[in-house]
Amino acid sequence: MPQFDFKDKVAIVTGSSQGIGKQIALELCKKGAIVIINGRTEKKLNATKERLQKAGFDVFAIACDVGIFSDCEKMVKEVVNKFGRIDILINNAGLAMEGKIAETNPEVFQKVMQVNVLGYLYPIQAALPYILQSKGSIIFNSSIAGFVGLPGFSGYSISKMALTALAQSLRIELKGTSVHVGINYIGFTENEISKTYFDEKGQLQIMPKREGVKLMPVEKVACKILQGISRKRQTQTFSGMGKVMHFLQRFCPRLMEIILSVTYKKRMKM
Ligand SMILES: NC(=O)c1ccc[n+]([C@@H]2O[C@H](COP(=O)([O-])OP(=O)(O)OC[C@H]3O[C@@H](n4cnc5c(N)ncnc54)[C@H](OP(=O)(O)O)[C@@H]3O)[C@@H](O)[C@H]2O)c1
Repeated sequence: MPQFDFKDKVAIVTGSSQGIGKQIALELCKKGAIVIINGRTEKKLNATKERLQKAGFDVFAIACDVGIFSDCEKMVKEVVNKFGRIDILINNAGLAMEGKIAETNPEVFQKVMQVNVLGYLYPIQAALPYILQSKGSIIFNSSIAGFVGLPGFSGYSISKMALTALAQSLRIELKGTSVHVGINYIGFTENEISKTYFDEKGQLQIMPKREGVKLMPVEKVACKILQGISRKRQTQTFSGMGKVMHFLQRFCPRLMEIILSVTYKKRMKM
């Protein structure tokens, strides 16, 4: 199979001012792609652009909220006006939450759906005419919470499961167009120290360092995502634990429920 060439491919990475998205942007730059980074906070986005520039890579930064359709339309217009095409759309922007269903402010669910679901759908709707022209790739960054409902993270799980439906529908609708649709079920990854999550009250909190679980290095996650694009993979499940959970949920769902119940009880006692 000929090696996929990222050189001069125009790639938008949503939510790339920090974390996994930022690393994907860096890896794309290293491969010679024309990279558009995105996030809502202009200051954070510009700091990332500067850091990439210092590393020798020039990226185009667009501050916008992917949960707002008109923002996505503007972003796509700006990219097409400047570069004339879009080859790769990596949907990555995401919000995290934690809280029991009974005790979580309903607004938290609304915010998470707006970004984690509509914030994937809207960039696709805006960019699709151009990705059809380039026969490019549309990528969904999901999570192991996308194949099993995690207690205490229900809003997040709902949003990540919805992405499976979106990716499946889209792939079938695009059959015969040569557009690649790939979904990544990412496992626990080393976080940026500034990563936040919504607590039950809807307050943003700094995500504490996760203890007792093996974290995948962010570089490894980003490289695997690019490998999925070059090999046109439909799905990828990251980390050994992710693969085990995926298998158990598919073939032994009762056992998966017992394991999750036990670990949840333990977590609640801590
Ligand atoms: N980290 C993990 O362990 C892990 C595991 C599995 C899956 N994932 C998934 O991987 C993706 C990236 O995770 P991460 O840990 O790198 O996240 P992160 O560190 O919290 O970064 C999220 C990025 O998204 C941006 N963002 C948030 N809302 C946005 C919006 N409405 N419009 C545009 N940009 C927005 C943020 O910038 P602003 O706040 O400035 O907008 C930031 O750049 C997420 O979809 C997440 O669910 C992560």
